[in-house]
Amino acid sequence: MSTNTQYTEAIARIKDKLDIVQVISEYVILKKAGRNYIGLCPFHKEKTPSFSVNPVKQIFKCFGCGAAGDAIAFLMKIHNQNFNEVIADLAQKFGIELPQFKGGGASNTELKKQLLKANKLAAEFYHKALDSYAQGKKVKDYLAKRDITDNVIKDYMIGYSPNQPSELMDYLKKEHGFSDDILEKAGLLSQRSNGQGYLDRFRNRLMIPIMDENDNVIGFGARALEDGQNPKYLNSPDSILYNKSKVMFGLNKAKEAIREKDSAIIMEGYFDVIRAQVNGVKNVVASSGTSLTQGHLKTLSRYMNERRIYLAFDSDSAGQAATLRGAEVVKEAFMGLGEIKQYDESFGHGEFSCEIRVVVSAEGKDPDEFIKAKGGEAYLSLVEKAPLLIDFEIDSIIKTGGKDASPQEKAKVIKKIVKVLSQVQNQIIRSEYIKTVAQSLDVSQMALRAELDLYQAPATPSEQASLSNVTKTSTKLQIAQKKLLSCYFVDGSNIPPSTLNNYLDEVEFTEETLSQIKKSLREISEQAENTEILQKMLIDGFVGQIQAQQEIIDIINYSGEIKDLGSSLMKQYIEETVFFIKRARAKQVQNELKSRYYEAKDDEMSSQLIQYEVRDKLKQVNRLKLGDIHEQKI
Ligand code: UTP
Ligand code: MN
Repeated sequence: MSTNTQYTEAIARIKDKLDIVQVISEYVILKKAGRNYIGLCPFHKEKTPSFSVNPVKQIFKCFGCGAAGDAIAFLMKIHNQNFNEVIADLAQKFGIELPQFKGGGASNTELKKQLLKANKLAAEFYHKALDSYAQGKKVKDYLAKRDITDNVIKDYMIGYSPNQPSELMDYLKKEHGFSDDILEKAGLLSQRSNGQGYLDRFRNRLMIPIMDENDNVIGFGARALEDGQNPKYLNSPDSILYNKSKVMFGLNKAKEAIREKDSAIIMEGYFDVIRAQVNGVKNVVASSGTSLTQGHLKTLSRYMNERRIYLAFDSDSAGQAATLRGAEVVKEAFMGLGEIKQYDESFGHGEFSCEIRVVVSAEGKDPDEFIKAKGGEAYLSLVEKAPLLIDFEIDSIIKTGGKDASPQEKAKVIKKIVKVLSQVQNQIIRSEYIKTVAQSLDVSQMALRAELDLYQAPATPSEQASLSNVTKTSTKLQIAQKKLLSCYFVDGSNIPPSTLNNYLDEVEFTEETLSQIKKSLREISEQAENTEILQKMLIDGFVGQIQAQQEIIDIINYSGEIKDLGSSLMKQYIEETVFFIKRARAKQVQNELKSRYYEAKDDEMSSQLIQYEVRDKLKQVNRLKLGDIHEQKI
């Protein structure tokens, strides 16, 4: 059997194993809608879902940006990988053997394997170093003082990085034949400050391996052991294994519990997670080395249906700020997938997209200290009593004011509360909150309601209007850009490629793929003898790039519409299209500014500056647009 047929067969087997819903839900939070699934498109920014997955046809399509294709196309697009690279990754994942090509696309997979191996060996080395290095003793003492038992040390493969320049590096190079290059890519080395060679990235630190969901070591969180050793936690750098904004520490051990309880508790620190998990609070994770991102939520949501998120950050003021920030991230991640339950309890079972609660451990303690002092059971009952985010928010705002505050202070507090309450859709719930808040601040319900009405009236509709304008303009804009490119494919138009190139230079394209096609056409159009050859050259230039090829096919089809125009009409067509693109682009910029302006508008004093800046730019764009029209008048 030839290598080629073997390859084709392997691809068929891989395709058999792929389920598009499963594949995509690793990257997009999907919600069932009839026969299909919908979600927020990962390929363009949007607030209401226009991305749809069809499990029967095994395809996805975004009605917002037009991205479409099968599971492999999705993976290619989202990882920015070519076809062979995606196939190589999938083959590894499914344990399917691929025939070896010389210098083929499998190299990335090979590299990944090497990096995983290096990290695993490093974790084992650090773990053993607790005993094999004399200085390891002080770390064991430190761990004992923290009540971290030997079993836990073993279970989490906690270790020690010796206080010497290159112990790990020497070991991995001598005993396992790794190169500097690989070890650096694995995040284990850093460059010496004089630029001459490498040394161990982690020295004299307590090492906590970070695992992916399948227990592979992909990085480390490394805690300082001495006063004045900075930073307190040094983390592995991002690598092809370790993506800080997606990886959740502890997920390998938490995933079953998250699935079972249909909820996850997010904490701040490595030791919080370890402490909780070993004390029976299992569904616990932490972001590592960065604050919470939407990527983290996407990772988590794969294990949950109804998505109940508990934020269990430290209860100091930094932790409180992190809670509010984190909550915004959670809301944003789930936005457009239904109301968030806490804001509308009237939704039926399974229809809400997410519920956010806040676990407050008393006395300024972090979960680690709390559980160490009071035990896992006590923490579980805190979790059980955890208030909804909205109650937590309102409480913490009210704490800054109170019954005895001056009218001015009360007004300030109300202003903040109104912002929270404005998100409550359900009128019953809203009026209940109005009642409670009015009571605890001793203000009139009517006044509170009036403030609430005032707050909402301007923001929402105009924002929405400007949003939908943006989408409309951008689709038309894309079509116009494609139509302009289609002019290259009209045989006998008497408009030479060099002239077309000049027109093309006048406009800036907004979309990445079309810009690439434009660039490529500009380069090759003068070499091609006829449009047929041009087509072939263009498509060959985008091999394996499904999206681009899809666009190219669109472009070629558009050329059919104009093939009979004749050269003078054709010229007019080109000029009109160029003009349209310029104007639409200006409009788009204007709309972006407008929505930024509206967002800034309701904010505090500090945003005044932004407002002025935006207003200023808005004026500039308006002027620019008028100028354009005069200049371009045909
Ligand atoms: P904290 O400073 O709250 O530490 O940072 P902690 O978890 O309570 O640490 P212990 O209990 O004193 O050992 C919380 C988390 O923030 C990240 C780490 O993930 C840490 O666990 N962090 C903190 C860093 O990545 N770098 C830092 O320098 C500090
Ligand atoms: Mn701590």
